[in-house]
Amino acid sequence: MPSEIIWGAATSAYQIEGATNEGGRGESIWDRFAATPGKIEDGSSGDPADDHYHRTRDDVALMRDLGLQAYRFSIAWPRVQPEGRGQVNRVGLDFYDRLVDRLLENGIQPFATLYHWDLPQALQDHGGWANRDIVERFAEYADIVTTRLGDRVQNWITHNEPWVVAHLGHVTGEHAPGIANPNIYTTVVHNLLLSHGAAVPVVRANVRGDAGPAQVGITLNLYPVDPASPHDEDERAAIIQDGLQNRWYLDPLYKGRYPADIMERLPVEIDTGEMERIAVKTDFLGVNYYSRAVVTMGPNDTPRSVKPVAGEGYTPDYTSMNWEVYPKGLYDLLMRLARDYNPPRIYITENGAAYDDVVGRDGRVEDTRRTAYVQAHTEEVRRARADGAPVAGYFAWSLFDNWEWAHGYTQRFGLVHVDYKTQKRTLKDSARWYARFISGEGQDER
Ligand code: FCB
Repeated sequence: MPSEIIWGAATSAYQIEGATNEGGRGESIWDRFAATPGKIEDGSSGDPADDHYHRTRDDVALMRDLGLQAYRFSIAWPRVQPEGRGQVNRVGLDFYDRLVDRLLENGIQPFATLYHWDLPQALQDHGGWANRDIVERFAEYADIVTTRLGDRVQNWITHNEPWVVAHLGHVTGEHAPGIANPNIYTTVVHNLLLSHGAAVPVVRANVRGDAGPAQVGITLNLYPVDPASPHDEDERAAIIQDGLQNRWYLDPLYKGRYPADIMERLPVEIDTGEMERIAVKTDFLGVNYYSRAVVTMGPNDTPRSVKPVAGEGYTPDYTSMNWEVYPKGLYDLLMRLARDYNPPRIYITENGAAYDDVVGRDGRVEDTRRTAYVQAHTEEVRRARADGAPVAGYFAWSLFDNWEWAHGYTQRFGLVHVDYKTQKRTLKDSARWYARFISGEGQDER
């Protein structure tokens, strides 16, 4: 059991940095996707987003003022390797080097994610995650980054939410690269997981010196799945949905095999030795938790998500993403992960809520509902830990309002409000609450 929980906040490169044409950065699949008419709700792109690329110093000072103990950020592959292979862009690496130094100077532990969805477009032009060659490319990129930062950064996350990359990026096409081809789904997943397996030993070899031994893991988007009714068919739908969403990723990583019941639905080509490489030992599991799923059995023996039914003292409550607020799901999930997969540590690498926040006349952002969300979820984290789940940390999503992928700037997830016209940062009430919570004053607040 980890000795304590660290409290932090998370962001990702494309959602906050801006400066997409500066410092020798190459084109990413999200630049290309956002520039394609009709793909982004408000027609925007990740430039300028929060202009974080130019405001790093002030942004880290703000993290310090909030008392964050850790900060999870991602590295933009096209800043480091504009073409996705060979040629390293020193200016891009220097940016992350300075960010890491500033975090450490301010006593904030860096947690770096290698891939949070912004693939170099040049690699997409060669098939991207559907091309097996990506595994070598990713290992090479991981080597470049960790060779440079491995003397100071101990905590590394290989991938963020491979389900989103594979499903939204390649099956529905709602995300970059905007491919809608279900036939390549398992190939994309397999390549993502293989690239994780290839990167882990590379990271381990490069983390050294003051940073201490590498702590490396992967982040999955997971949720508990509840049947819409106690009918057998809905129960079965819940098992299948859990298989598609959760076990399809957890089983290969922790048991070295894809789940047999789901393989009947999703054939996947596996070569000798590959499953062992995917199941390489890691130090932690990263969990992004936002909500649960409630499913019923739909046509063609396929589970279908439905809204939970109100009743018996329960009124479902939703965020502006239309996601049900369900804190208990986080407890259920953490306990289940500990029981079925037994990871040495778990970090909640994302958890948070979007609401339509406004800055009041007095300059305050009274985001009472977000405060309640974070409070309730951190409480469940503590409860799960007290009951034996090896939780080592929690990262609120997100530190700042930022560019929410296909939703553009329409969804505000931040603890800190960002005025995109002026780039002014304003602490929301939830940020103030979280700062008090971290400093210990609010630890026993209910
Ligand atoms: C997760 C992503 C993160 C953010 C949140 C709301 O799926 O990892 O970048 O978009 O959802």
